[in-house]
Amino acid sequence: MGEAAATREPVRPRVINFEFDESLPLHWFGNCPVRTHMSNALNLLFPLGERFFVRSVKKYMHEIDDPELRADVRGFFGQEGRHALEHETFFLRLEAQGFEIRKFLKTYERIAYGVLEPAFSPKVALAVTVALEHYTAIMAENAFRFGVLDEADPQMRALLLWHAAEEIEHKAVAFDVLQKVDPSYGLRVSGMVMATLGLLGFWVAGTVSLLRQDPKAKFFPSLRAFFKAQAAHPVGRRVFGRGIREYLARDFHPWKHDNRKLASDYLASVGLA
Ligand SMILES: [Fe+2]
Ligand SMILES: [Fe+2]
Repeated sequence: MGEAAATREPVRPRVINFEFDESLPLHWFGNCPVRTHMSNALNLLFPLGERFFVRSVKKYMHEIDDPELRADVRGFFGQEGRHALEHETFFLRLEAQGFEIRKFLKTYERIAYGVLEPAFSPKVALAVTVALEHYTAIMAENAFRFGVLDEADPQMRALLLWHAAEEIEHKAVAFDVLQKVDPSYGLRVSGMVMATLGLLGFWVAGTVSLLRQDPKAKFFPSLRAFFKAQAAHPVGRRVFGRGIREYLARDFHPWKHDNRKLASDYLASVGLA
């Protein structure tokens, strides 16, 4: 059983059908092209990434005998599956805004899941998943604790906060599976190195691809706006600085930092508890 699992609510998916209509502004995040396209690019990475998380955990389902963890794993599959679908709905809005995203998605799929994933063992894939789950949980906490999404358009804010709340709820599931399968510190840290390089590489590539297609995104003003936003909300430092430091502790466990109330309070406030 994972740490603190005894007091944890079971992980369960919530079926929501988000819609993104034409009222969504081109620069929906603080009227800033860089913040918008960085978020758009992360959206592009989510569905294939989440299906990879599910695949990598599913391979070890037969090794999980704890009924609570098995139930949480099923809930995790359901949550990630729903996230992928809802982010794909948002893809349609991006295309309606005139962005060509399919080429980027094809290249990302071919390199990440056609070349890299088969080149490594299933254990490494699971360790990469665990590290990426740690990153998404920190991003989620940022959204609730620091109001990072306050300047986002309400349609996108609703999508991202629902996703963020569920990321907090299931943040220890893949970790607990890895602990059962192979608790080696070296494996966990190797997964973190690969996850960090992969995430940054594809995130930057996606952002550049969108910015280049946006005639209203001017390079220098956009860069200035980006640094201003980072000064207000140093998400990069919190995710890749503090996040990596925490993860490198030998006794790290996601629930050592118990922030589930952030998720439950939000879900209750929008009638999704
Ligand atoms: Fe997710
Ligand atoms: Fe997740």
